[in-house]
Amino acid sequence: MSEFTQPNLRVLLSAEQIRVRIQELGRQITEEYAGKSLLLVGVLKGAIPFTADLLRAIDLPVQLDFIAVSSYGASTKSSGEVRILKDLDASLKGLHVLVVEDIVDTGLTLTYLLDNFRRREAESVRVAALLDKPERRIKEVAVDYVGFPIPNEFVVGYGLDYAERYRNLPYVAVLNPE
Ligand code: IMP
Repeated sequence: MSEFTQPNLRVLLSAEQIRVRIQELGRQITEEYAGKSLLLVGVLKGAIPFTADLLRAIDLPVQLDFIAVSSYGASTKSSGEVRILKDLDASLKGLHVLVVEDIVDTGLTLTYLLDNFRRREAESVRVAALLDKPERRIKEVAVDYVGFPIPNEFVVGYGLDYAERYRNLPYVAVLNPE
């Protein structure tokens, strides 16, 4: 059976909708950072497809780095405890940093990353997230560039997984329990 057309998947955002929106975000970022260079920091693994597409939509001198953080268990969720599994390759000092996230849900991961990056003396730190679930927020956090606000449903595809599956879907879908 095709992985891309499972009956338990309901398409929320098509590949074409995602493509068009990322081109818009790329143009906006290009205008707002005119005359500057930018470091994109992709948050592994979910932000891989978004980072790869956004990177190519930004017409500026751009560097690329990645960070991997642990996803906390249910028990530690409210504490916002996050651990770095793979750190950045290089210093952020004096750089304009754009953190690239797949989705902002409770906001705990992003709050941790922003605090951490600001302590590394970046010139500026902003955030681009493909998806935003504002209803679920525990920590208020400013997301500068949002692809799509979405309702409070569990989504997969375009980098987002359920137990490491479905990251390869070219679209974003709501996963319904079988
Ligand atoms: P937060 O710290 O709660 O904002 O969660 C951020 C991370 O949780 C994201 O980077 C995703 O990896 C994961 N996550 C949150 N919501 C979803 C979802 O609907 N589908 C898949 N992963 C999600």
